[in-house]
Amino acid sequence: MSELWLRLPVRSGVRLATAIVALSCGALAATATATQPPIGNAREGRIIGYTCLGCHGIKGYRNAYPDYNVPRLRGQSAQYLYDALKEYRSGARAYPTMHLQALSLDPQQMRDVAAYLAGKPVKARPVPAARVPAQAAVCASCHGSNGIGVSPMYPTLAGQHESYLIRALHEYQTGYRKNPIMNAMAASLSATDIRIIAAYFSRLRPGLHTVPRPLFKWEVKK
Ligand code: HEC
Ligand code: HEC
Repeated sequence: MSELWLRLPVRSGVRLATAIVALSCGALAATATATQPPIGNAREGRIIGYTCLGCHGIKGYRNAYPDYNVPRLRGQSAQYLYDALKEYRSGARAYPTMHLQALSLDPQQMRDVAAYLAGKPVKARPVPAARVPAQAAVCASCHGSNGIGVSPMYPTLAGQHESYLIRALHEYQTGYRKNPIMNAMAASLSATDIRIIAAYFSRLRPGLHTVPRPLFKWEVKK
């Protein structure tokens, strides 16, 4: 063993040591952060993600029927986007267009595209509890009073389209969108509560953005 070690060129020795450190750190990180996002490769995701930008990369783009804004994804938690894609793929979250999109991706591609679309998370800025409307106070324990998910499993709501938030809450109320926590949370909300909540979270800044769509050469004005 030591002979083999000695025969190794110095550089590979260094590389081996680095690899061992990286491996043990990886193991540590895995135990400490079991719920952290399975970050994919955003560079790979950029290629897959181009097709997604046909809807998610256009500011103010609306789903025709029912009529609401396509959700903003930039700044969202990558873990949440990945979870959402898995749900569309399995059909647990029913939406035909997104079901087909997700069916075309394997789990690694879903992680990569989630990492690309999410980009950097929204920077958290504290919001005094007094500014939070009473109807949204209970939501803050998971979605933050500043609208930023307190853990990667909880979506960020700050800056999300108002019409999409309203739509999502209606879907939880009717049970069309199934999630035990959110079905319970939405059950007692009145139409007025939903309007107040959606107005509050959608207007919070810093918040989510539309993913910028890279221009092709021929689209750039000379
Ligand atoms: C034809 C338009 C269209 C295309 C193309 C499209 N999406 Fe979507 N996407 C939507 C709509 C509309 C919704 C909201 C659906 C709903 O109400 O559940 C959505 C929702 C999502 C969500 C859930 C967001 C949230 O806040 O819960 C994710 C994640 C997502 N899309 C990712 C993708 C990815 C990845 C691609 C490309 C592989 C893609 N989408 C392509 C229209 C589109
Ligand atoms: C105990 C934690 C928790 C609380 C409290 C909570 N939520 Fe959620 N919320 C979640 C989780 C988890 C999801 C993702 C569920 C899914 O996959 O559909 C979610 C999803 C959502 C979504 C969909 C976001 C998207 O991008 O599609 C909206 C809107 C939302 N919550 C609003 C609220 C509101 C309004 C309240 C308060 C009345 C609230 N939530 C309270 C955990 C919570």
